[in-house]
Amino acid sequence: MAGDSFPAQEIDTSRPHPARIYDYLLGGKDNYAVDQQAGDALTAKAPEARISVQANRAFLQRAVRYVVGAGVGQILDIGTGLPTSPNIHETAQQAAPDVRVAYVDNDPIVKAHADALLSQSGETSIMLADLRDPQAIVDHPDVRRIIDFDEPVALFLVAVLHFVTDAEKPDAIVATLRDALPAGSFLVLSHATGDLADRREAQAVYNNASATMNLRSHAEVERFFDGFDPVEPGLVQVPFWRPDTPQPARSEEVGFYGGVARKTG
Ligand SMILES: C[S@@+](CC[C@H](N)C(=O)[O-])C[C@H]1O[C@@H](n2cnc3c(N)ncnc32)[C@H](O)[C@@H]1O
Repeated sequence: MAGDSFPAQEIDTSRPHPARIYDYLLGGKDNYAVDQQAGDALTAKAPEARISVQANRAFLQRAVRYVVGAGVGQILDIGTGLPTSPNIHETAQQAAPDVRVAYVDNDPIVKAHADALLSQSGETSIMLADLRDPQAIVDHPDVRRIIDFDEPVALFLVAVLHFVTDAEKPDAIVATLRDALPAGSFLVLSHATGDLADRREAQAVYNNASATMNLRSHAEVERFFDGFDPVEPGLVQVPFWRPDTPQPARSEEVGFYGGVARKTG
């Protein structure tokens, strides 16, 4: 059972949380019975869910190496999730030790776990904030301490925008963040989809969770990249974004799109 060392008031075990369901699907141990039940209900409705989250995580690692290889020295990761090794700063700093990483999540449990993990490092920080208030993230002193918005930034919105409803205007959220980034910055984004199979029942598993799941089509996800120039191969199912190992079995079933794009102007 997770969380023994964290303040009880921060831990809501009465309903599933996206970060903990994801951790369960990845084989982690920072989750509770409600999250495990939701994860099992999800895989019953969408048998590819486990391979999808693993493929998403592998995409995240490749994208980190790509942006660091392109010379970006700072990463703003919104919707961080529970620490999962290797974390972004570990992969990034392996390639370039002085890369700085600002992590943002709206789940206090994520922050508590990340605080414990990051306490030794001066190059990283985790802050509690909500993607649905993007200007507050850009203005946050803890973000400003790590991120210099006059230098290129890699903005990571990986497996998080599907927790934002259409009514919450995800396009406007991404546009606000984009406008804060200087030219030469990157957007790394992945998003769950129901394009490949009818996943309405799987989506409904999140109706009782702390955030709902909002599956989107390829065209809808592609719109989040407005104002950026796509890096080849564009928006594809995550296993097919610049693979560096042989494709795992059933890659074509993976229900996440992912892509990387660069802000040029
Ligand atoms: C599925 S996990 C993804 C973790 C990581 N980005 C990855 O792809 O491996 C989604 C994370 O987004 C966070 N999240 C959901 N809605 C959010 C919001 N409105 N603002 C900030 N974080 C949010 C959840 O708490 C969770 O930690």
